[in-house]
Amino acid sequence: MALVTGAARGIGRATATLLAECGATVVVADRDVVGAQQAAAAIVGAGGRAEGVGLDVGRAAEVTEVVEGVVARHGRVDFLVNNAGISLYRPLLECSEEDWDAHVDSMAKGTFLMTRAVGPVMVAQRFGRIVNLGSYVAQLNCTTKYFGPYCAAKFAVVGLTQVAAQELAPHVTVNAVGPGDVATEMMEREWEQEGERRGEAAAAVKDRYRQRLILGELEQPDDIAQAIAFLCSPLAGHVTGSHLIVSGGLPFTSDRTS
Ligand SMILES: NC(=O)c1ccc[n+]([C@@H]2O[C@H](COP(=O)([O-])OP(=O)(O)OC[C@H]3O[C@@H](n4cnc5c(N)ncnc54)[C@H](O)[C@@H]3O)[C@@H](O)[C@H]2O)c1
Repeated sequence: MALVTGAARGIGRATATLLAECGATVVVADRDVVGAQQAAAAIVGAGGRAEGVGLDVGRAAEVTEVVEGVVARHGRVDFLVNNAGISLYRPLLECSEEDWDAHVDSMAKGTFLMTRAVGPVMVAQRFGRIVNLGSYVAQLNCTTKYFGPYCAAKFAVVGLTQVAAQELAPHVTVNAVGPGDVATEMMEREWEQEGERRGEAAAAVKDRYRQRLILGELEQPDDIAQAIAFLCSPLAGHVTGSHLIVSGGLPFTSDRTS
């Protein structure tokens, strides 16, 4: 039984799909309820077990209601993937209080609220795997200019991962996966925002991002889903408190752009 947040599209949807292919019943949760239901229907159409639910992870009352409903219907939660998130390419001095709150609510607060709600269920059943979405930007000395609130929220997620790994042990593991540049709607928007600011076409920005990668290709949502599935699997039974960077090599960059 798996609960994946922000799973209407992108990395979350790929993760929900892969976990269903691995045999899990999946709850596809997203504040885009129509998208969540469509993603769940696609999983069911492919022979899997899934249901879509509306959920804003930054709202404690919604988190409580959804988790209580999931436990009432399914009896347990084995895997929790805290994937919901947003991003914005904007200089720190231009960011509003709303920009800050939106990032912190959907990622740091959302991860806290979901862990607080699901953690006791996993501890009581003496099994659980929690995987949080970090980012390669949540490492020291990365080039993260113009991603202030995003970067702060992702460092918070990695910090929470380390604390939760200690507090929920020994039967529950808690890890983070840190993607690099994954070709999703989130990144398409970032390339548009950066292009507008630099007077460049979004496609040109995207190509520049691709060229800087030492592996030469942007990541796809499945690349991240596979790392998440690994951390949920018995292969990773002794891994906890880690932040697994799956970034195509970032922050190392290709000679082609240096
Ligand atoms: N795409 C990348 O390159 C990249 C890199 C590093 C980390 N990540 C992280 O991976 C995760 C998924 O990113 P993606 O690229 O698939 O993004 P995306 O924008 O394609 O999808 C994000 C999903 O999260 C949902 N969502 C946003 N806020 C929510 C909230 N408060 N409650 C519930 N649902 C919410 C959205 O509706 C959307 O369906 C995010 O945490 C993101 O920060 C992505």
